[in-house]
Amino acid sequence: MERGKDMIYLDYVATTPLNDEIYKTYQKLLGKYFANSDSAYSLGYEVNGLLEKSREHIAKMLHVKNDEIIFTSCASEANNTAIKGVCFQYANRGKHIITTSFEHSSVANTFKQLEEVFGFEVDYIPVDQEGHLDISQIEDMIREDTILVSTMYVNNEVGTINPIKDISRIIRKKNPKTKYHVDMVQALGKLPIDLSVCDLASFSAHKIYGLKGSGLLYKKDNTAIVPLISAGQQEFGLRGGTSNACTYIVLAKTMRLALEKQEEHLAYVKELNHYLREQLSKREAVVINSPEDASPFILNISVPHYKPEVLVHDLETSDIYISTKSACASRKTEVAHTLAAMHVDHDIAISALRISLSHLTTKEELNTFIEALDLSLSRVKKQR
Ligand SMILES: Cc1ncc(COP(=O)(O)O)c(C=O)c1O
Repeated sequence: MERGKDMIYLDYVATTPLNDEIYKTYQKLLGKYFANSDSAYSLGYEVNGLLEKSREHIAKMLHVKNDEIIFTSCASEANNTAIKGVCFQYANRGKHIITTSFEHSSVANTFKQLEEVFGFEVDYIPVDQEGHLDISQIEDMIREDTILVSTMYVNNEVGTINPIKDISRIIRKKNPKTKYHVDMVQALGKLPIDLSVCDLASFSAHKIYGLKGSGLLYKKDNTAIVPLISAGQQEFGLRGGTSNACTYIVLAKTMRLALEKQEEHLAYVKELNHYLREQLSKREAVVINSPEDASPFILNISVPHYKPEVLVHDLETSDIYISTKSACASRKTEVAHTLAAMHVDHDIAISALRISLSHLTTKEELNTFIEALDLSLSRVKKQR
C-alpha cells in the first residue's frame, strides 16, 4: 500500500501496512460477492462456498478441523469470546480462573470484568524483572474448581515468549478439565504455532499485513462456549451476525502469505534485532528492557529521565514512527502495563519506548532511526 516514501515505520506490533495482493484480492471480492452467505439461492451458496473454502485452508494451515475455526471481527473479540464463553459455559464446575499479570487489555480487562461483575475469582501468574513468567507457581494455583487458564504466547510490549508447551503440560497434569486459552496474536507468521497445546487460541489479521476488522478464534471441538453474540446459524451458532464474508475469504490468503515465508522473515528480523540491540546498548542513556530470548520482532527500551511521548513526537518530525507502549493504552498516561508487572525501577518504567520490526525493515532505516534518536536526545529537554 501507499506509504510516505521516506517514512520509517517501526511500529509493526501495533499494526502492519496492508499487503498489496490482499488489497487487490479484497477489492475484487467486494465487487462480486456481495450476497449474504446464508441466503438460500445460488449467489448466497457461491459466497458460502468460498467462505467455507477459506475456513478449510486455514484449518489445514493450522492442522486443526474445519469446525474448530471461528471467524471474528478482531482478536479482541476472539479473546472475549474464548474467555467469557468458557467461563459462562463451565461456571457450574467452578469460578476460579487464572491469567498472567502482563496480558493485552482485551484479556486483562475481560478477567477484571469477570471478577468485578460476574463474581469469578482470579489469580495472576507473576512476571519477573526480565519479563519471564514464574511458571513454577501455576501448579499450586490450579485447583479442582479452576475452569480456565489464559496466557499470551508472545507479549506485545517487551516480546517475551511464554513457554506455552510447559504451561499446557502443567495444566493437563494438575487438572485435565481446566481449559487453556492462548492469545497468539504476536506469534502468528513469526513463530511456530502448535495448537495441540491449547483448547482455544486467538489471532488477528491486521498484525500480518491483512485487513483490520478481521480475527479468528480456534476452539477445540471438545470445548464448549456460550456465544457472546447470539443470533443466527453463522459460525456454528457461536458468533451471530451476517457474515463479513469477503473479509473471511481473504484471511486464508493473508495467513498463507504470512506463513510461507515465516522462517526466512524470522532469520532476517533476528539479524536486524541483533544489530539494533548492539547499537543501542552502546548508548549510555539507553536501557534495554526486552530479554535476550524475546521475540526479535519487538525491542523495548527505556531512556530514563526523558518523557517517552516527547521523544515519540520528536522522532515523528523526522517521519519516524515508534510507540511508547501497546497502542490500545498509548493515550493513557500510566506506565506500560508489562513494565509495571515486571516491577522494574520507576524511572525505567515511565520512560519506555517500543520499537517493532518487520521483514520490510531495512538496516538503513535502523541507522536513520538511531541517528534521529541521538539527535532527539540532544535536543529534547531532560526531566528531573
Ligand atoms: C497480544 C495481543 N492480543 C490482542 C490484540 C488485539 O488485536 P485486535 O486489534 O485484532 O483486536 C493485540 C493487538 O494489539 C495484541 O498485541
